[in-house]
Amino acid sequence: MDLSRSAAWSDLVSHKHEIDKLHMRALFHEDEGRFERFSISSGELLLDYSKNRITSHTLELLLELARSAGLEKMRGEMFDGHPINFTEHRSVLHTALRRPPGYSLEIEGLDVSAEIADVLRQMKACCESVISGKWKGYTGQVMTDIVNIGIGGSDLGPCMVTEALRPFAHGKLQVHFVSNIDGTHISETLKKLDPATTLFIIASKTFTTQETLTNAMSAREWFLQHAGDESHIAKHFVAVSTNRAKVVEFGIDEANMFRFWDWVGGRYSLWSSIGLSIALYLGFERFQELLDGAYAMDQHFLKAPLERNIPVLLAVLGIWYNNFFDVSSYAVIPYDQYMHRFPAYLQQLDMESNGKRVNRQGSPVEYATGPVIWGEPGTNSQHAFFQLLHQGPDFIPADFIVPLKSQNPIGEHHDILLANCFAQTEALMKGKDEHEVRGELETAGCDHSEIEALLPHKVFPGNRPTNTILVNELNPFTLGSLIAMYEHKVFVQGIIWEVNSFDQWGVELGKQLAKTIFPEIQGSKTVTTHDGSTNALINAYREYRLKGKTSASPQLSFFDEP
Ligand code: F6P
Repeated sequence: MDLSRSAAWSDLVSHKHEIDKLHMRALFHEDEGRFERFSISSGELLLDYSKNRITSHTLELLLELARSAGLEKMRGEMFDGHPINFTEHRSVLHTALRRPPGYSLEIEGLDVSAEIADVLRQMKACCESVISGKWKGYTGQVMTDIVNIGIGGSDLGPCMVTEALRPFAHGKLQVHFVSNIDGTHISETLKKLDPATTLFIIASKTFTTQETLTNAMSAREWFLQHAGDESHIAKHFVAVSTNRAKVVEFGIDEANMFRFWDWVGGRYSLWSSIGLSIALYLGFERFQELLDGAYAMDQHFLKAPLERNIPVLLAVLGIWYNNFFDVSSYAVIPYDQYMHRFPAYLQQLDMESNGKRVNRQGSPVEYATGPVIWGEPGTNSQHAFFQLLHQGPDFIPADFIVPLKSQNPIGEHHDILLANCFAQTEALMKGKDEHEVRGELETAGCDHSEIEALLPHKVFPGNRPTNTILVNELNPFTLGSLIAMYEHKVFVQGIIWEVNSFDQWGVELGKQLAKTIFPEIQGSKTVTTHDGSTNALINAYREYRLKGKTSASPQLSFFDEP
């Protein structure tokens, strides 16, 4: 039976009609204890979810939905290594990567705990060697720059973390990320670097990803143009992958390979050796703190009752709006400039995990399986898209993430930053009604006709939900907890929606078609094998390329003046 026909779902549909009439302003007015009731702290993190369109009964119904989906059982199965990624016949064990060593868990004949400890030791040794300067390049110089070449999960997580934790870097190494196949990305990165002091990490779970391998090849060529001898590659290229054969085929020494395993999904892989760039940039101890923070959240997720469980509450609140208010967008607003890549990271985590149209039985679902995730740091976003959040026709729920401590406490900056953050969630919740607007306009001396004309434009409906997540300080431990919190939120939603959150077949078709089009672009024949639009686009580019071979400045003919 489709989830949307279950009793728990119907109860929520009916309840939504009651909630529709309630304004959060009134809910706060009636209940002085609303914040205490609808907030939780765990470790150094506090979730305030009181500014949501909920009552205690809403939560009861949402948690009943979660329970009836078998959440507690499925949670146990993930942690215990059951092959819950059933379309790829894989376990889902990113949580094992941050567990203290010594537990017993065997997957495909491998002792997971021992395997992980082994790779962590290898990462630690590499960090010590590179950071201390023992690791020397082909000219005998120490490394000054790390370039991580990867894409998707092999880029977004490490890139986001190194940006977010910049104040914790030891400062002996700069880190760069190259992901895009657009030659601009690698060219602009290499321009700044000296091959004699640069260490490349080729990060790819499969080691077959076209973008990563092409960028890696270009980096190799650039390096060899300077270093000359191929034997120098071993001192400047390491690989992170599950695919030993492909790493060796690429020409990277096995001794320079950091392995991980099929049971770590790409978007869940920053905790594995994919995090090598993080460990090198921050130092291994800081990387361990990141793991510890995630482990603390894992324990909270495993042990806290559903009513007091942060990822569970975030998940069901997301479902409340996505499925019962038909809201298809969700904003994430960090009030921390260092977290500027956090929304981009969350986009992959959330949308690649749950952007699925069939349930676990393979039947099309009759409900949404997740919103579009987007966002930018505050206060910049306030001056860009907040108009829509406040006065657009539909509401967009948002998470506000706020470190209490500033890493750069100059003047009154941080107080102003936080004042803005708190003001925004208050404004979104309260709004400004006609009565208030009228009063303001009268005080400003506007006449009757002006007031009537301006009134609708100046009203804020309010009743727009937000969660506020406070952390004492954004440091490796708290960032680890935050990331794990979102991972588990996405997991819980996937369980309720009955989708497989751990495969990503939807990214394959475009990759396959690109493989067909690539030789066509380079071929000598006019392309006619696709639809009219695709043929025309390919041929426009072919024409441009061909002209480029004969003229200094090729122009597309359909842009030429007649
Ligand atoms: O194209 C999507 C994807 O498969 C992601 O899931 C993954 O994180 C990314 O590509 C990179 O894959 P790999 O690490 O195998 O190069």
